[in-house]
Parts: sequence; structure tokens; C-alpha cells
Amino acid sequence: MNLNLTEKIIIVTGGAKGIGLGICKVLAAEGAIPVIVGRAEADNQIAVKEIEAEGGKALTVVAELTNPEACKNAVNQVIEMCGRIDGLINNAGVNDGVGLESGDYEKFVASIHKNLVHYYLMAQHALPELKKTKGAIVNIGSKTADTGQGNTSAYAASNGGRNALTREWAVELLKYGIRVNSVIVAECYTPLYETWINTLENPEQKLKEITAKIPLENRMTTAEEIANMVVFLLSDKSSHTTGQLIYVDGGYTHLDRSL
Ligand SMILES: NC(=O)c1ccc[n+]([C@@H]2O[C@H](COP(=O)([O-])OP(=O)(O)OC[C@H]3O[C@@H](n4cnc5c(N)ncnc54)[C@H](O)[C@@H]3O)[C@@H](O)[C@H]2O)c1
Repeated sequence: MNLNLTEKIIIVTGGAKGIGLGICKVLAAEGAIPVIVGRAEADNQIAVKEIEAEGGKALTVVAELTNPEACKNAVNQVIEMCGRIDGLINNAGVNDGVGLESGDYEKFVASIHKNLVHYYLMAQHALPELKKTKGAIVNIGSKTADTGQGNTSAYAASNGGRNALTREWAVELLKYGIRVNSVIVAECYTPLYETWINTLENPEQKLKEITAKIPLENRMTTAEEIANMVVFLLSDKSSHTTGQLIYVDGGYTHLDRSL
């Protein structure tokens, strides 16, 4: 299937590692030009080299997305560099364990900035260009919005917010033909996941227990599997799909856990 993404300029926040990098690689393989917006110049450059080694093209902008001004500057830099924006993938975030007992007001608000506020700002600043190109938006979300996890109030709240914004923007942007969808992730082994599992007691045992409960094939979802859905939703092959939350999770969130 030709996804018609050749030379399309797609912003991917947090595109240097994990799920974001997986998305950039699939975009590049489809002939698109992902623009990695990430905080660490060195990581961004390593990601570009990896994509180029696989025969693709990618660009980068350095931005710490918790800084609202940096979000605006990042979008402006993409417009200066490329002259257009054909799609936005909001992906950067961190499960930072700010709970009711472990957190406080400052930590809670800071986590909302790490996980939710920049989703809004990137969409707001990219919107004038997306209106011109009828570009699509895909938000990455987490099962924690549905299932809870414990000790991660701000991350769970942010993911509830990501889901709500997906439906809200799908409605607000109908008039421009801009589609907005979410891909919800449950268990995908990335640098972030590794950091999280290592905060638990006996991480190896815990990983085995989690993996055994993933209904389809008792394995983690790969970044590429998530990316394939994201890129399809971004492309005009999903031209009548908007406001949807798609769970790419091997059935983990919705199927019977005793399977
Ligand atoms: N890994 C999972 O199992 C899982 C599960 C559910 C949801 N998610 C979601 O997927 C998204 C990506 O997760 P991942 O596991 O690939 O993470 P990761 O930490 O492995 O990669 C994220 C990348 O984004 C960058 N980044 C993060 N916050 C940033 C900021 N404020 N400014 C600039 N750059 C920033 C990081 O430096 C890193 O390069 C997150 O939003 C997370 O909520 C992941």
C-alpha cells in the first residue's frame, strides 16, 4: 500500500529514542521526512544517523518541551527549515511516578508540563500550517488513563488529558479536514520502560510476570508495531478515521487477564 507520504514533513516530539524513534524510522521508510523535536542534540543526531544508514532522511530541532517558548520556537524552526508542516506526532513524555503520597503540588504541575501541556502547545503552534496542508495529528497515549497504575497520578491524569484532547481536537478541527487520533501503548520496551521497571523490586521477575499477561503471543509490543499504526493514521489511507483511540497492545488493556 502506498501511503502517499513521500517528502511529507512530519514533526515527531521525542523522536530520538524509543517509540518516537520507531515512528521516525517507519516514516522515513515511507519516504517522509520526520523532524525529531527532542531535548538532547547528541541523541537527535544519533537518531538521524541511524535513519540515514537505513536509507532515509530526517531533520532535527533541539527543544526542551516543558518550556512553552521552546515549543513555539521549535515549530517556527521547522517552518523556516522546511516551509511547511504535513503532520504532527505528539509523543514525548515520561512516567515519572508522582503519586498522591509521593508527590506534591510542584511535582504534579511539573509532570503535567512534561506529559500534557506541550501536546497542546505543539498542536496550537503547528495548526496554521496543518490547515494549509490538511495534515493529521496523532497523539501517543498510555493505558494508565484507563487502568490506573498506582503512584503515578500526574502521568495518569496527563494520559486522560491526551485522550480527551484527541476527541476535542477531532471536533474542533473537523472544519479544516484535519484528522486527530491516538495510539495507546501498554507495554513497549524502550529506554523509558527500562528506567521504570528498574524502579520496581526484582525487575527481571516483574518483567516476566507482565509479559506473561500480554494476551497476544505473551510478548511486549515493539516500537515498530506502534509506529506502523501511527503512520497509517497519519496517512490519507485512513482518510475517514478521526477522534479514535487505537490500542496497539496485544490485547493487554481490554482482553481477559486470566487468558
Ligand atoms: N514505553 C511504554 O511502554 C509506554 C507505554 C505507554 C505510553 N508510552 C508513551 O510513549 C511516549 C514515548 O515513550 P518512550 O517509552 O518511547 O520514551 P523514551 O524515554 O524511551 O523516549 C522519549 C524521548 O523523548 C524525549 N523527551 C521526553 N520528554 C521530553 C521533553 N520534555 N522535551 C524534549 N524531549 C523530551 C526523551 O529525551 C527521549 O529521547 C511517552 O509519551 C509515553 O507516555 C510509553
